[in-house]
Amino acid sequence: MYEITRLPCNPHAKDLLPDYQLLVPESLHEALSGLSPDHNSRSIVIAIGALFMGTPVGVVLASYSKYPCLEVCFHHIFVQPEHRNKKIGSRLFQACQQEAYKEGGRLFLCLYPKEEPYSFILEKIFSKCGWESPRPFLLRCHGNIHTMNIPLITDSTNSWNFPAEMKEFLWKDLTAEMRRQLLFQEKNHAFSQFVSPFNNEKKIEFSNSIGLLYRGSVAGWMITHRIKPDTIRYSALHVDPALRHRKLLGLKLITDAVDLQKKGPFEWAELEVPIVNVPKAWVNFVKQRIVPYVEKVTTLYQAWKGM
Ligand SMILES: CC(C)(COP(=O)(O)OP(=O)(O)OC[C@H]1O[C@@H](n2cnc3c(N)ncnc32)[C@H](O)[C@@H]1OP(=O)(O)O)[C@@H](O)C(=O)NCCC(=O)NCCS
Repeated sequence: MYEITRLPCNPHAKDLLPDYQLLVPESLHEALSGLSPDHNSRSIVIAIGALFMGTPVGVVLASYSKYPCLEVCFHHIFVQPEHRNKKIGSRLFQACQQEAYKEGGRLFLCLYPKEEPYSFILEKIFSKCGWESPRPFLLRCHGNIHTMNIPLITDSTNSWNFPAEMKEFLWKDLTAEMRRQLLFQEKNHAFSQFVSPFNNEKKIEFSNSIGLLYRGSVAGWMITHRIKPDTIRYSALHVDPALRHRKLLGLKLITDAVDLQKKGPFEWAELEVPIVNVPKAWVNFVKQRIVPYVEKVTTLYQAWKGM
């Protein structure tokens, strides 16, 4: 009764697209035409559809890149409510895993919001497919920039400023030489890949991304990205570990970026903290000082399997 089939995922398969687009959020529509959500032109999309009497009722989307390693990321799985609890989700997931494995995939990853009511169903599917127990991976805070009023941030702007040998600059003014030095540092793992200022560079929001100069060298940054027409994500906060004994540097960078956003037209802010990849003190800070003041908090869990 149900047919599980791999979708062609190229711009020429136009006939299929409208039906499947109904099952996929708008941000992933391009993936159905083969454009990977990770914006890496070398990534390959795998989409599997479930049809009931010829009509699409479910879909799973994943992508993998052959460089630098063959890592398969699951981006989306959805089954129409009236077809749920009939093993369609499990079959889609397994089919996608098999296809990716055939093409060389050996590490499988999936991030999902723990707070959503369907998360326990996904966890059943992971467990059935032999995946490792999921772990908290990323904390996402979402709030209105004009009403958040995080007390510590406003206090510190009033009373605190950078020491004389430090200076903030707008990221759009990063010079070619500074960029060269940062790329060199990145290559030598001087900072975590999760806070690299070069991640998703095309979407950097230059109106409030800022850098910190210490004696002429870049020693920190608060990089933001515009992820929706009205939303800025505070994606990467970094302060050189050698300067971390000087309190408030990171906080001041966020504060100033927030103040710049308040002057602009974008109403919503999102802050992401990769829980396992940043110092624990920063995670605790966000939980205590930011989480209570925002409209919505999502904890993304990561499930994975190595083969
Ligand atoms: C998650 C989802 C894809 C699962 O699809 P599905 O076809 O219902 O899944 P399955 O029928 O294969 O069920 C998987 C397991 O969960 C169990 N399950 C499914 N629905 C359940 C329910 N409502 N209550 C309890 N258990 C349930 C099944 O019994 C099965 O367990 P088992 O294999 O141990 O028997 C589907 O619920 C869905 O689309 N939810 C919305 C997801 C969404 O919004 N995604 C967007 C962001 S990624």
